[in-house]
Amino acid sequence: MNDNKKKRVFSGIQPSGRLHIGNYLGAITNWVAEQHQYDNVFCIVDLHAITVPQDPQELYHKIRELALLYLACGLDQKDCAIFVQSHVAAHSELTWLLNCVTPLGWLERMTQYKDKSVKQESISTGLLDYPVLMAADIILYDTDMVPVGEDQKQHVELTRDIVLRFNNLFGETFVMPEPIIPKTGARVKGLDDPTAKMSKSSTNQGHALYLLDPPDVLRKSIMRATTDSLNKIAFDAEGQPGVFNLLSIYQALTKKSETEILSEFEGKGYGNLKKQVAEVVIGTLEPIQKRYADMAADPAYIEQVLKDGADRVRPIADHRLYVAQKHMGLRK
Ligand code: AMP
Ligand code: TRP
Repeated sequence: MNDNKKKRVFSGIQPSGRLHIGNYLGAITNWVAEQHQYDNVFCIVDLHAITVPQDPQELYHKIRELALLYLACGLDQKDCAIFVQSHVAAHSELTWLLNCVTPLGWLERMTQYKDKSVKQESISTGLLDYPVLMAADIILYDTDMVPVGEDQKQHVELTRDIVLRFNNLFGETFVMPEPIIPKTGARVKGLDDPTAKMSKSSTNQGHALYLLDPPDVLRKSIMRATTDSLNKIAFDAEGQPGVFNLLSIYQALTKKSETEILSEFEGKGYGNLKKQVAEVVIGTLEPIQKRYADMAADPAYIEQVLKDGADRVRPIADHRLYVAQKHMGLRK
């Protein structure tokens, strides 16, 4: 459906919590690096964010903040449409159609749902249905590739199952997407607890490195990161998860090889490792923070970016929704 054209890439991030270095390494840097080769659609998935309670005013602000961060991290509007999910109605409409062909058991099996639902006092229907909305996001745009962190792979696999089922039931309607998982930075761990994924929702001080944190806060969080008492520099995810996490962040940001990194840190202590990681993190984030501040100074700018983005993708989404409705017998 995208013959003779650049392949289509689709991905999204929830505007809940603050963006951290895990989001940057697991998602955004990879989008930026390859954007010129593809036709990209990058979404701010606000409808996913409201599957758990959000403060309306804060949510409105976070949507703009995330859009500005997409741009500040280097996404170029020339190659990327950047838009807010709720501004394109087809996402919700297709979700309903897909709901009606998705067995409930498929959703109950999702590990993210199982993890999140135990943390909620009352579980919304939306939280369970979250992966179906994600499937709609992806397949509305005839997406070929979905770059995401490892934690989202199961949801893209579910999308593939839904495509297969829909196409079998109603005839060829949707393109089969592929998940693209980065090799390094795919699973950045919390600095306070290197056995758990770095997460936007943690409220622990020193858990995450946020993209908009000032240098002294970044440095403090890294210097306080949990390590071990082995005093050994090695890429050992099982035996030394804290050191491994720091080395992985360092490797992903510097693009150096494991051998190069090991010889650089050989015989030196964890304090030195942390100092070097802090310098690289701060050096990476400084120009991003500067671009962010410049663009944020004009609030009308981001509104225009988001309007342009939605206007650009809406016809693509509306067309695919129409074809799905037609194949299901809802339209002529
Ligand atoms: P989320 O923060 O869950 O909205 O995720 C946004 C994107 O960042 C997705 O592609 C995730 O897979 C990715 N991501 C989130 N947390 C991490 C992490 N700790 N390490 C690597 N990638 C992550
Ligand atoms: N569920 C994804 C996450 O939390 C965000 C997301 C929503 C997404 N729709 C998507 C990612 C479509 C890729 C494609 O990370």
